[in-house]
Amino acid sequence: MQHEQRMAALAVCRVQDGATLPAALAAVADGAPTRGYTLVAELAYGTLRHWGRLAALKQALATRPLAEPALSALVAVALYQLDHTRSPAFAVVDRAVDAAVLLARPQAKGLVNAMLRRYLRERVALNAEVAKASPVARWSYPRWWIGRVQADHPQHWRQILEAGNERPPLTLRVNRRTTSRDALAARFAAADIATQAVGEVGLIVLAPQPVPALPGFGEGAFAVQDAGAQLAAPLLRVEDGMRVLDACAAPGGKATHLAELADIDLVAVDSDAARLPRVRENFARLKLDCPRLTILEADAADPGDWWDGRRFDRIMIDAPCTASGVVRRHPDGKWLRRKSDVSTFAEQQRRLLAGLWPTLKPRGMLLYASCSVFAAENEWQIKDFLDRNADALRESISFGADCPHVGGQLLPSGNAASHNQDGFFYALLRKA
Ligand SMILES: C[S@@+](CC[C@H](N)C(=O)[O-])C[C@H]1O[C@@H](n2cnc3c(N)ncnc32)[C@H](O)[C@@H]1O
Repeated sequence: MQHEQRMAALAVCRVQDGATLPAALAAVADGAPTRGYTLVAELAYGTLRHWGRLAALKQALATRPLAEPALSALVAVALYQLDHTRSPAFAVVDRAVDAAVLLARPQAKGLVNAMLRRYLRERVALNAEVAKASPVARWSYPRWWIGRVQADHPQHWRQILEAGNERPPLTLRVNRRTTSRDALAARFAAADIATQAVGEVGLIVLAPQPVPALPGFGEGAFAVQDAGAQLAAPLLRVEDGMRVLDACAAPGGKATHLAELADIDLVAVDSDAARLPRVRENFARLKLDCPRLTILEADAADPGDWWDGRRFDRIMIDAPCTASGVVRRHPDGKWLRRKSDVSTFAEQQRRLLAGLWPTLKPRGMLLYASCSVFAAENEWQIKDFLDRNADALRESISFGADCPHVGGQLLPSGNAASHNQDGFFYALLRKA
């Protein structure tokens, strides 16, 4: 376990230095998957999910400052394990002391040992003290982030912050072109894999496991997609023969869903050349025979560069955003984002809406989607667009009764919710 603790601590340090967590994990694993990689990832993700509280606890426990970032991250990893995993406490502490040696800090063994043992003795009091210390320690989000969620969601801010600190479920979207949800659930049950239905075609795998090993993966029986994200494509009500644009398509989660719903003529655009190959791979794995699929690397906001002049019946803009609604899946985002990123993304979203609106047919529909809970990327963005475009009408959207939402904003819900979902936002616009 000490090797995994050490690697998780090094990955957490890399995120503190600005790397994304997947990149940090790949770097500490040195490109090659290691035996304990799943545990390393669990420890690093969990530690970052609770980083605000763990950092405050470390401070409360340290008799002298832990100047070394890797050592400090190691203590956080061990504290996370003590509170959120089933590993025996004595093993967590002993192995963390060994990990300090592996980090080439043998002189810190005593300090690491003393901090973790004191935590075990005074856990309740320390947690109570830290919860009162600051909102960052209480909620494990940056202060500016907490303030924004409080201001944008005065009724639901606690629920949003809490749901973002949960472990995310593994949610699948059943490919109805290949199988049915009941048939796939039965195959999983036969393999002793328990599932729970969510939404129209979703299945939550109750004990997450490596996706490629799940029954039906190679046959394209399902895609991995959060229940909230599965609501997007049906909102556009695509029909056979329609010309559809997915303007921010990579890696193809919503594009493949659109193609599952009808035989459409689909143009999939994305500006990121590295992510685009995943679109074609996903279409191939899901065995989606899209009669006409065009994949383009382009800045969708500048149609002069890529558009052939034929207008679209439907447009999906799954906009680049802060991803503040999906932090349970990407907890590094909480610590990597800066307050100024919100206005940078809002400007990109404004450009995409403005640039793509002329490419929509009269009476055509455009779905604006984000995976954010910040109003500046959602309601304010749409209000501003409607103010500038007299020919844009906002259609009302209805979600299922068990789907927590306020208007077009899905509220991130926790693992106890019947519609366990991330915090997406949707606005459906029709051209007059
Ligand atoms: C939220 S992700 C899209 C996820 C995708 N729709 C799915 O469901 O799998 C946003 C995407 O927008 C792309 N993007 C950002 N700015 C863009 C632009 N100006 N034009 C086209 N794509 C852009 C990013 O490269 C990224 O892949």
